[in-house]
Formats: sequence, structure tokens, C-alpha cells
Amino acid sequence: MGSKIRKIVVFDTTLRDGEQSPGASMNIKEKMEVARQLARLGVDVMEAGFPVSSPGDFEAVKAVADMNLGPVVAGLARAKEIDIKTAGKAVGKKGRIHTFIATSPIHMEKKLRMAPPDVIKAAVNAVKYARTFTKDVEFSCEDAGRTDWGFMVEIVAAVIEAGAKTINIPDTVGYCTPWEFAEQIRYLKENCPNIDKAIISVHCHNDLGMSVANSLAAIRAGAGQVECTINGLGERAGNASLEEIVMNLKVRRDFYQADTNIKTKEIFKTSRLVSQVTGIRVQPNKAIVGMNAFAHEAGIHQDGVIKERATYEIMTSESVGWKGESMVMGKHSGRNAFNKRMEALGYKLDKQELERAFDRFKRLCDKKKVVYDEDLAAIVDDEIFSGNMLWELDYQNTNSGTETIPTATVRLKKGKEMFLDSGTGDGPVDAAFKAIERIVGQPFNLNEYALEAVTGGKDALGSVRVRVTSGGKTAVGRGASTDVITASIKAYLSAINNILLQKEIKAKKNGV
Ligand code: KIV
Ligand code: ZN
Repeated sequence: MGSKIRKIVVFDTTLRDGEQSPGASMNIKEKMEVARQLARLGVDVMEAGFPVSSPGDFEAVKAVADMNLGPVVAGLARAKEIDIKTAGKAVGKKGRIHTFIATSPIHMEKKLRMAPPDVIKAAVNAVKYARTFTKDVEFSCEDAGRTDWGFMVEIVAAVIEAGAKTINIPDTVGYCTPWEFAEQIRYLKENCPNIDKAIISVHCHNDLGMSVANSLAAIRAGAGQVECTINGLGERAGNASLEEIVMNLKVRRDFYQADTNIKTKEIFKTSRLVSQVTGIRVQPNKAIVGMNAFAHEAGIHQDGVIKERATYEIMTSESVGWKGESMVMGKHSGRNAFNKRMEALGYKLDKQELERAFDRFKRLCDKKKVVYDEDLAAIVDDEIFSGNMLWELDYQNTNSGTETIPTATVRLKKGKEMFLDSGTGDGPVDAAFKAIERIVGQPFNLNEYALEAVTGGKDALGSVRVRVTSGGKTAVGRGASTDVITASIKAYLSAINNILLQKEIKAKKNGV
């Protein structure tokens, strides 16, 4: 008789911890799109953000919760009333409040400047307060990996008593080894008197490249929930990758005696979507979702695979939804094929969005012979997800050369009105940005600018990503075009529109 297979709760934090990856911030529309795909993927819980961190994040978490996609929507909150209240409002009664406080000696002493008994008090109060908003409360001991095990048991017992239903043990700084971490989970199970009233969760960071190994070791030791992100995105070196954990459990079910609700055929699509939306590429040799994950290069391997796939493949590429090489579309592709391809890439567009994207695709076909999946994703990103278009590009003309002062003339549309101005700069992009600032009537700081070709070839789409700040607000913008200056202007406008929207929300909140 085989032993019972345990179902592990998959808590995805791509929209929160994943978004903390440098440069990975997403606007509301992007978060909603990723959330939709996470629901199709079958995650049990999705942490949609940290509502108190900004009005934009509050709106995004609320928007995701209001979509009622099926998975529980969680919002992060420090053990503070204002955080918990804001998270409670964002996720609603059916949502989860995930509250945390640091428990390691170094964090308590140097960061919180709190004595351990006060930390326990704050944690208990936070959980009790969170329970006034929802029954579903998760508590995390931040930096649990460097926490005294006796103290961990003490605080965990107290927060379970206060009403926490999930206890998360994060290896916040990626310090643990699989052996120690498994031992820590076992210790908690064996020594905390009321642990059977809660689910033990783990949340591992990848600073030493051990996040997946530590998560799996913890699952073997009895953890019932795993926190992870698509493509392993996350703070610093990232979080444990969802796809790696899930496929380990699936392929080695015999060993782990555990599985998940994840529809593994949705993995590849989800990975692509997250990569497109965040602009963070997946390394080609990344397990499960890298471009080379199922490519056999060596002759001996190819020969073996032709004779019997299982000689060199422990799982099929189809099982993770990999549909072969990037598909090619061109000017003869119709609306139906275009829509099907969009769906395969994880985009669900409404009628209007589909029309706009299709129109853009046709215009691109005039400039580019073959259009790859990467181009399609860039188009959708640029056309649909670029946020609210307060200011839109209508026309641009730039002049530059080795002997000329770079100048730009830009015409922008705002509602039905047109605004024209020009600027000079260090180069044509700088000149165009100056012209835009003159039209919008305020300066913005450009903190990051990245340009890359979406695919190979001289006619490739140029994709630009910028990070802009102004008056304490930050926004990321993206733009794509076969003309890199147009792509740059679009990215800049998308970031500016985003900042202006944030300012508007704040002004409304303050009743201005
Ligand atoms: O890494 C961490 O400790 C976290 C907590 C907020 C759960 O992200
Ligand atoms: Zn984390």
C-alpha cells in the first residue's frame, strides 16, 4: 500500500516579492493580466502586493481581489495597524492578510530596536487586528532562518492562539542549508503545542542558490504551503521558482509523496507573460522554462532522444506547455490566427484591445517580414498595457549627426488637443525627452534607460524600458517600435502618464 499523497498549497508572490526585483514593477493593468494567468495556472493563493506601500499598489491589490478569479488574494502588511487596515480594505473579507515582523536577534535589535517580548506582543496584536477584517490570516517570522528556534516556537504558539491560520517560516536572506531548514521545520512541528491548528509555510530566497532545495527539504519535513514566484523573480537573487518546485514534486512524486493543484501545461505561457510584462528575460539554461531547457545539442543526446525520448528527458516539454520554436506570423495571418496566438501566449484581450493590437500587428508586418512571438508580446505590452494614456505621441521628428546639435520636435495629443514643442539635447532621445518635458510643463528624472532588440535581424523591433521619478513618485515605462526613438518616446510617455496618475490618485485621496 502506497502512503498518502499530500496536497501542497502553492502561494505565488510574483506580484509582491517578485515585483520587488529591481526594475520589475508592474502597473495595475499588468498586474491584472498576470493575475488572470496565475489563476489559469492554478495557484491556490496569490499575493497581489503590499497595499500600504503606495496608493497604486493598494488599487492594484483591490483590483485583483475584485476580479474574483478563484485563488485567494493576499495582501502584505507589517505588524502595524495602518498596514493591516489598508491590506484588509484591499483584499476584502474573502482575502488573506499576510502580516509579518522580524524575529532574528539581528533584526530585532538593530532594525526594530525592540525587545523579544515586545515583538511577540506586536505580532499577537497584529494577528488579532487582522482577524477583525478576515478569517484568513497568515503570520511570517521575518528572517526565521536566523531566528532562535526556541523563540520561533514561542511566537508561533502565541500567534496561532491569536488566530493565525498559516505560519510562514521565511529564509529571508537565503542563508539556510536544506538539512538545517528541514530540521527547523521538524523542530517547529514537534515543539509547538498548537501547530496542528495552522499550516506551516516556507518562503525561501535564493542568495546562495538554495531556495528551491530549501523549499523542497521543508516540504519533505512537513511544510504544507510553499511561497514562490514565476521565473524565480524576487528581492535580490530572487525567490524559489514556482515552476522548479512544482515540476520537482510532479516528476519525483515517488520521493516527495506530495503534489499541487498547478496545471503544469500553463507554466511556459505564464513564464513568458511574466518575462514580457516585467522586461526581465529568462536565462536560456534556466530549468523548466529556459529556451534551452528541452534542447538537445550533442549528437549522442540527439541520437538517444530520437530512439527513445526518455533516454535524456525526465519530463516532456509538452508537460510544461512548451510548444516548440517561437511561432512565425506574417502579413497573411488573419485576425483569428492572431487571436489564437495571443491566447497561447497568455493574453486575454477584449474585443477593443484585440482590434488595436491586430491593427498594430498589421502595421508592423509592413515593416517587418516575419513577426515572432516576442514581437507580438512587445506589441501588446506597448499598445495595451502601457497604462493610462493621458499624453500620447502623435508625431516626432529628430535631427542628429556628428556635426549637428541634436534637436527634436514632438507633437503630443491630450484628449482632443494637440501640443507641439521642440528641444535640444546630448542626443536625439535626450532632445525628444526635453521637448516632452516642455509640453507637459514639468521636469522628470530619468533613472534608467535600457534598449534591446526584441528578436534578431536588422528589422527587429526595438524595445525600450525606462524608470522615471518625479516628486517622490517612481514609474517604469515601456515602448516598442522599429524606430528606437519612437520606442524611447513611448516608454517615456508611459512612465510619465503613470506618475501623473499616481499624483492624481494621491491628490484625490487628500481631497485636493
Ligand atoms: O522574505 C521575507 O521574509 C518576506 C516576508 C515579508 C514574508 O518576503
Ligand atoms: Zn521574501
